[in-house]
Amino acid sequence: MRLDVISIFPEYFAPLDVSLIGKARERGILDVRVHQLRDWAHDVHKTVDDTPYGGGPGMVMKPEVWGEAIDEVVGDGAPRMIVPTPSGRPFTQEVAQELAAEPWLLFACGRYEGIDSRVMREYGARLRVDELSIGDYVLAGGEVAVLVMVEAIGRLLPGVLGNAHSAVDDSFAPGSMQNLLEGPVYTKPPAWRGHEVPAVLLSGHHGKVARWRRDEALRRTVANRPELAAALDPATLDKRDREV
Ligand code: ADE
Repeated sequence: MRLDVISIFPEYFAPLDVSLIGKARERGILDVRVHQLRDWAHDVHKTVDDTPYGGGPGMVMKPEVWGEAIDEVVGDGAPRMIVPTPSGRPFTQEVAQELAAEPWLLFACGRYEGIDSRVMREYGARLRVDELSIGDYVLAGGEVAVLVMVEAIGRLLPGVLGNAHSAVDDSFAPGSMQNLLEGPVYTKPPAWRGHEVPAVLLSGHHGKVARWRRDEALRRTVANRPELAAALDPATLDKRDREV
């Protein structure tokens, strides 16, 4: 998968050199290209923003600079374009899965009050453009949101996770864990500072372990995310589920 990122702070993307995503790049699974938006500004100050029409606080990113940058990065191609913004639709595991199936993504990072809206309209006519929010809070810019999205998408690509099954049991993964949070996990030793690992996990009984994990997932979902629990499809719940 090819990933282009345009930002006035390319330094933000240093974490993409390490860990899972760094290894995926080394192995050629991910081709990440980070671009400095100011390279497409023409004045001596490399200006990328201006005051908002209609007044109000803050600055808005200029359409001309974005237009030249995107035209050059995209060329004749047609990547899916993602604009991180708190005003976007929610970025969820389902969206991550959908984006992981794309061959090419372009992330356009806004700062200040955002990018002139005509940029999204212009490219919406040529590319598929999605404005996405990673949560109901406001960051200083889109860079951190892009790191979040790239990690969520990258770990879904074939060959990125060591264990191909580890994405299957994730919280929010489609299938039996849809809309369920993952329960607690334990490793050795069996007792630590007086806290014991639940006996069922040491039993070697796969059926009982699976049932226990599902019970814990249901309990955690009810406690931490009641709105997710309420939205569970009754057809996917058995008698025991309803008791939990
Ligand atoms: N930019 C600023 N806040 C954001 C958010 N919550 N999600 C995506 N992009 C953002």
